[in-house]
Order: sequence, then structure tokens, then C-alpha cells
Amino acid sequence: ASGGVRRFHLTAQEGSISWPGMPEPTPTWGLNGPFLGPTLRARRGENVEVTVRNAVPETTSMHWHGMHLPAAMDGGPHQSIEPGGTWRPSWEIDQPAATLWYHPHPHGATERHVYQGLAGLFLIDDERSDSARLPREYGVDDIPLIIQDRRVDEEGRLVLEDSGREPGMLGDTIMVNGTIGPVLEVAAQRLRLRLLNGSTARTYALALADERPMRMVASDGGLLDAPVELSRLRLAPGERAEVVVALTPGETVRLRSLPVDLGAIAVPALTGADDEFDVLELRAAASLAPAPEPSWGEDPLHVPLRAQDAVRTRTFALQGRTINGARMDMHRIDEVVHVGTVEIWEVTNTESVPHSFHVHDVQFRILDIDDQAPPAHLTGPQDTVYLEPRRRYRLVLRFDRYADPAMPYMYHCHMLLHEDGGMMGQFVVI
Ligand code: C2O
Ligand code: CU
Ligand code: CU
Repeated sequence: ASGGVRRFHLTAQEGSISWPGMPEPTPTWGLNGPFLGPTLRARRGENVEVTVRNAVPETTSMHWHGMHLPAAMDGGPHQSIEPGGTWRPSWEIDQPAATLWYHPHPHGATERHVYQGLAGLFLIDDERSDSARLPREYGVDDIPLIIQDRRVDEEGRLVLEDSGREPGMLGDTIMVNGTIGPVLEVAAQRLRLRLLNGSTARTYALALADERPMRMVASDGGLLDAPVELSRLRLAPGERAEVVVALTPGETVRLRSLPVDLGAIAVPALTGADDEFDVLELRAAASLAPAPEPSWGEDPLHVPLRAQDAVRTRTFALQGRTINGARMDMHRIDEVVHVGTVEIWEVTNTESVPHSFHVHDVQFRILDIDDQAPPAHLTGPQDTVYLEPRRRYRLVLRFDRYADPAMPYMYHCHMLLHEDGGMMGQFVVI
């Protein structure tokens, strides 16, 4: 089904915010406002035209994280927007319903631009998500949560300076959609939370305070094959998940971030793994509207990603600020992929620090982790995966529709300090 055209306007601009308890307004950046940006939403089959204006005093870009689109529209470091400049990408939405996001990608400065407030959600709908038995009233029982940590100094300024130290900027304050200490009044028995870890470095273990089970229904790239019950969800920077939580009338329950198991990390405390935070307080009304058990049908357009279809295997070793021993070079193409083919990418975190792996343009599936089948919540479509230390992840990916020998896509660690430091490579699809 092909649809009409959806036009969006985004202006990256300077602003300031007065957060409660802070003496002075904090200088920030935002899109169409002082901090973060609007939720964009489009349907599969629709054409999207975006006008991105850069009104901040630095060169930036705007990347559509998780989107399948031509490399020239991707908004990576090759699509710079100068101060005062405008960029007009357009593409057709050609992927299943999902919770995607957008953020700048200027080479070497992504951490700072995201930290200052440039990011937003991009939701995709399709027929399958329309007919799914899932809460879908945006802002009522279908709630976007951009979760970020920030630090503000005594003068009320966002702390940016100790960038460069592992694992990157770790804040002591959790911001959800740009607010501190949010409370949500709930009027239905079930609530869908679209979670984005929009932090630059911190990985969360999200759970309800009593660790009651939640239903995970979607990963980065859309609905799972079936709901997965879990009580804690690990979410690394850049990753998304949708969960459905059930509430009983009159109760109050907090969504929290608990100490997170990052795998065999050398010094967990240095990564913020021991920290605990409240994220969101949920207050259920005295009577709640009934909501069905989450369920959904098959995607009629789904083409399975199968290892036996792979035409080749590539290996990627992450170490220090390098991938396969090389730092990002805007003028070097690291990998050449053929359009219409399936590949296996074998990705290894070779050391005892956290890394993640993100690939532009595609949604991959995890085949195995150290030869073991992945746990159920890691079997969905993903564009970003947390890499536990000393483990090897085999991913299966399909590169279809868009070929451009002159314009690369990126793959990189999504811990933004690492990305900015050069832990990124470029591939072209020809
Ligand atoms: Cu979310 Cu290359 O980025
Ligand atoms: Cu991306
Ligand atoms: Cu990394």
C-alpha cells in the first residue's frame, strides 16, 4: 500500500530549561523547542520529506536511527548541515511498525550534540500494528519514554567536560522526555511503554519496583514473534524496546533502573553499573479500563532472515577505539556489500569494557552468542546490540533496495564516546 507524503520540519536550536531544584536555567539544545524534539510518525508505504534547519552554532547532521533508507538520506557524518544551513532528505517508509529515533551524527561530536538535547522519536505504523491487541492511544496508554542521564553543575549548566573518560558521560539525574521525576496517571489495566535509551554511555536494567513481570512486545525494529515475559530489561545506548505492563486499580508502582549486569566487565562501578534510579512513577486510577492480553498477527510482508541464505561472513573485532584495528576515516570505505544479499556479521567484543554494535540501514537478527541461541527477548529485529565482554555475536543481515557506490552507511559502537573516538566503520552497498 503506498500512501501520500508526510512533511516534517525540524529546527535544531539553542534554548534553556529551568529544571526543578536548579538555581539557573540550563542552556540546552533542542529541535523546535529548548530540549529534545517532536515525535515524528509515519506509515509504511508513505513518503517522508523532512526539512532540517540548523540554527545551532556548530555543524551537525540528523540521522534516522533504525530506518531503512538510501545512504544519502541517512543523516550520517557525510550529510553535514552547516550553521544556518538546511537539509531536505526524503524517502519511502519501507519497513514494519517500530519505535525508531533520530539524533545528530557529526563526526567526533555526536556525544555532545545528543547530550545537549538533540534527539527525538520516529514512530512507524502499519496494518499489522493497527490490528495488534496492544495499547495504542499515544500519550494515554501508549507512552514514549526517552530515558537519559544528565549532570548539572552548581551554576545550572549541563556538565559536558569530563568527556573522554570511560565509559563517557554518566549523569546522576535521570531525565525522561526531558523531565525529572515524572509521574503518569494511568486509567487502563495495561500500559505500553516505548522505551528508548537515549543516553550517551549508560546502560540500564529497567524493571518495575516489585520486579513483577512485564511483557516485552517489540525490539528496536518492531514486534517480536511473540510476547516475552521478563522482569528486568537491559537496554544499552541507542536500543529501544516496547513493553506492556499490567496495573491493578489504585496502586502506585515505580519504573526503576536497577544495578545492571553488563557481563564480564573489569570494573563495573566505573561504568555506572551499580547505580539505581527511579525512572517513572505510575499511579493507577481507582477503576481501570479493561485491556486485552497483548497479541498480534504475522507480518504478511516479512521475509525471514536465514543463515543459509548468507553469501558471506565478515568479522568485526571491537577494541579500544577501533574496529578491526582501524579508526574511522571518512575517506576510507571499509566494507563493500552487494544489494539484495544476506550476510553474516560476526562481531566480537575483545575486551573487558562495554561496547555495543549498531548498523545503519538494516534490522538484523542475532543468530547466536558464543554459539548459543540468543534468549527470547534478543530474537527480534534489532539495529543495535549490547556486546558483553569477550563474547562473539553472529548477526544475520539483509541489504536490500538501496545501492549507492558513492555514499557509505556507518556501523559503530553506540556508546557515543567510543563512536566519536573512532570506533566506527563505513560500508557501501553496490
Ligand atoms: Cu544512532 Cu550511527 O547511530
Ligand atoms: Cu543509526
Ligand atoms: Cu564501545
